[in-house]
Amino acid sequence: MPSGPRNPPHSTPSAANPTSRFAHPSNWLDRFLVPPQTRQLELLDGPLPPRDALLANLRDLALVNRFAGGWAVAAWALERLVGSSSQRSFRVLDIGTGGADVPVALSQWARRRGLALQVDAIDLRHEVVDLARSLAADEPSVRVLQGDALDLGALPQRYDFVLSSLALHHFDPPDAVRFLQAAHARASIALVVNDLRRSRVAWYATRLVSRIFFESFEAKHDGPLSVLRAYTPREVAELARMAGLPGAEVHTRPPFRMCLIARA
Ligand SMILES: C[S@@+](CC[C@H](N)C(=O)[O-])C[C@H]1O[C@@H](n2cnc3c(N)ncnc32)[C@H](O)[C@@H]1O
Repeated sequence: MPSGPRNPPHSTPSAANPTSRFAHPSNWLDRFLVPPQTRQLELLDGPLPPRDALLANLRDLALVNRFAGGWAVAAWALERLVGSSSQRSFRVLDIGTGGADVPVALSQWARRRGLALQVDAIDLRHEVVDLARSLAADEPSVRVLQGDALDLGALPQRYDFVLSSLALHHFDPPDAVRFLQAAHARASIALVVNDLRRSRVAWYATRLVSRIFFESFEAKHDGPLSVLRAYTPREVAELARMAGLPGAEVHTRPPFRMCLIARA
C-alpha cells in the first residue's frame, strides 16, 4: 500500500489533525478576495539584524499600530470587557510585545479612562526585549520580560487580561492552537488577540504603505508578507474552536484587523 504524508499540506486543520494549513476557499469570490495563506518565514523570524535596524523595524511597527488600528483595537476590546465594572485596576499580560508600544499606549489610554493597568509585556527574543525596555522606560506600569508564548508556565501569576497584537500569524495552526490554549488559561477575565486579516486588498495596501512610510528594509519585506501569513476571521474562529475556547468571538476591525475575544 503506498504511504502518503499523514497530513497533506493543504488539508484543513481539525481538532484531530491540526497540523496542516487551512484549505483555500472553493467559492470563486472568496478565492479572489483572499489569497492562499503562506507559511514563508518573515525576516524577523530568523537571525535578527543589527540593533539600529531592529530599532527601525520596531518603530515602523509602532507607526502601523498608531495609525492603522493597532493599540486602538485592544482598547476597543478592553472597553467592551471592562464596561461598567467597578474594578478599576487590572493586571495585563501582552504576549509577543515587540517594541512594547501597544502596552504603553494602552496604559496611557487606561489612565485617561480612569483605569490602572499593570502590564507584563513578554517577547521571545532577548534583543527585542532589550530595545523594548528602553522604549518603554518612561512608562512605569509596563514591565518587559523575556518569555515564550508557547511556554507560559514560567510566569508567576494569572492576569485579568491576556493580550497579543500581530503575533498570532507567527504560529502555524498547531502552535496557534497551543498558543490560544496557554494564553487563555492565564486570563481570569479574557483573552484578547488582535492581528491582521488576510486579503488581497490588505496585501496591496500594506505593500504601498510600507514602501512609502517604512524606514526599515525588514519591515518593508515583512509587512506585506505578514498579511499573507495572517489568518482570516473564519480561520481564527476555527482555531479557537480547536483550542476549546468557550464562546470565543471574532470581530473585524478597520482597516485590516480582527480581534478574537475569549472570556475566561
Ligand atoms: C510582528 S511583531 C508584533 C509586535 C507587537 N506586538 C506589535 O503589535 O507591533 C511579533 C512579535 O512576536 C514575537 N514572538 C514571536 N514568536 C514568539 C513567541 N513564541 N513567544 C513570544 N514572542 C514571540 C517576535 O519576537 C515579535 O517581536
